[in-house]
Amino acid sequence: MAVGIFDSGVGGLTVLDAVEKRMPEVPFVYFGDHAHAPYGVRDADDIYNLTIAAVERLWEAGCDLVILACNTASAAALRRMQESWVPKDKRVLGVFVPLIEALTERQWGDNSPPREVAAKHVALFATPATVASRAFQRELAFRAIGVDVEAQACGGVVDAIEEGDLILAEALVRSHVDALLRKMPKPDAAILGCTHYPLMEEQFQQALGSDVKVFSQASLVAESLADYLARRPDMLGQGTDRLFLTTGEPKRVSDNATQFLRRKITFQAA
Ligand code: DGL
Repeated sequence: MAVGIFDSGVGGLTVLDAVEKRMPEVPFVYFGDHAHAPYGVRDADDIYNLTIAAVERLWEAGCDLVILACNTASAAALRRMQESWVPKDKRVLGVFVPLIEALTERQWGDNSPPREVAAKHVALFATPATVASRAFQRELAFRAIGVDVEAQACGGVVDAIEEGDLILAEALVRSHVDALLRKMPKPDAAILGCTHYPLMEEQFQQALGSDVKVFSQASLVAESLADYLARRPDMLGQGTDRLFLTTGEPKRVSDNATQFLRRKITFQAA
């Protein structure tokens, strides 16, 4: 009954942690494509090819449903995968929609026409590829009107987190928030549109100030997934083992992951 969770690196562990807490009975298989991270500076074809290779490996591990716990892959590859690649008996879901539903005060799958919502000035922090895709603005426009979005491509933050250099990551977060505030001095809400960023949530909140509501994905995705599986229990795959797979160097990746989740995580070669 396994479910797959995919990210380019350790960022998706923020989602894994939340879904495991929400559904302790489900064995999750995590795949981190550390050998090819970061995805945020790659082009859309490259991201598509790497993502489908990872998802195929998760199917082999007995997962019929895979969550792309990676905004960059959700933004740059998911639509193309769903339209032309995912077989009928499998599902691949992204992490964008639950976040946008929360921001636009909608229940899961509410497809009513776009309407006005409380947030009027929204700051989006994401990787360069996610910002370039404009997928966030597109999904938002289906659901809300009159929302002004200012996007900040946060170059370097994912690399610093993957290297375990949190001092550099913090300095970069401050400088990206400063750059955003110069373009939009008073956002009402901020979206952390990369699953690596919840590891820096405190730093984002501090730099933005306490008046800004920060939306972070992990718990929103956990609620949506629990809801989805309650309606589609047939999508629980045949796998029974909890696994952590990486294309990177397992020892180094395990040490980094253990530091982030503050519990022992042991990755094996994918
Ligand atoms: N954590 C990923 C995301 O949510 C990927 C970051 C990257 O590899 O650049 O976008």
